[in-house]
Amino acid sequence: MAAPMIAPSILSADFARLGEEAEAVAGSDWLHVDVMDAHFVPNLTLGLPVVQSLLKATDIPLDCHLMIEDPARWAPPYAEAGAYNVTFHAEATDDPIAVAKDIRAAGARAGLSVKPGTPIEPYLEILREFDTLLVMSVEPGFGGQSFMPEVLSKARAVRKLVDAGELTLVVEIDGGINTDTIEQAAEAGIDCFVAGSAVYGTADPAAAVRALRAKAAG
Ligand code: DX5
Ligand code: ZN
Repeated sequence: MAAPMIAPSILSADFARLGEEAEAVAGSDWLHVDVMDAHFVPNLTLGLPVVQSLLKATDIPLDCHLMIEDPARWAPPYAEAGAYNVTFHAEATDDPIAVAKDIRAAGARAGLSVKPGTPIEPYLEILREFDTLLVMSVEPGFGGQSFMPEVLSKARAVRKLVDAGELTLVVEIDGGINTDTIEQAAEAGIDCFVAGSAVYGTADPAAAVRALRAKAAG
């Protein structure tokens, strides 16, 4: 496996200073941007205009995690704007392949996310249409929740297919990742670790990213 990737989640950052907060984690692999619509999840965050401004403010590739209804309509514009990776939820659409194709056609990597209670088996066949699988290790909607280790079986199943050469995919995990939980996720074969409160809830976000990276590398 390649070196572990760390994606700080700006959900736990100061929304009035997003440019500086991105700058504070300049060595990160991806910057994770949680888009919530108050329908798919019971919370509301930010949308396309903020992503467009962030794209101008940072060189870190943006990893947009869309926790929204109707991704067929709303996801492609994030790719057109210049997001590096655009992930939507399997539970939010009947035609994930069509959405993935539109995201890729618009120039971004396509990601599929599954909530903790959503099994991965029904989606294994279609994962070849995706560049990223985002395994949720908390119920989507809020930062600062506790890690759910039971979701790691999904990561292990997909890791096996990637290692066997049947899929080419970044396996990403989101929710409750900190220096206590990241090792078990790394052992399950995760490539990319999202961390919100464990990065922006500390006095030194850059040091927090380094600490997470070191622990994930084992
Ligand atoms: C939750 C979001 C996460 C959140 C993670 O719905 O998708 O990206 O920022 O926050 P922590 O790392 O604090 O669990
Ligand atoms: Zn997220």
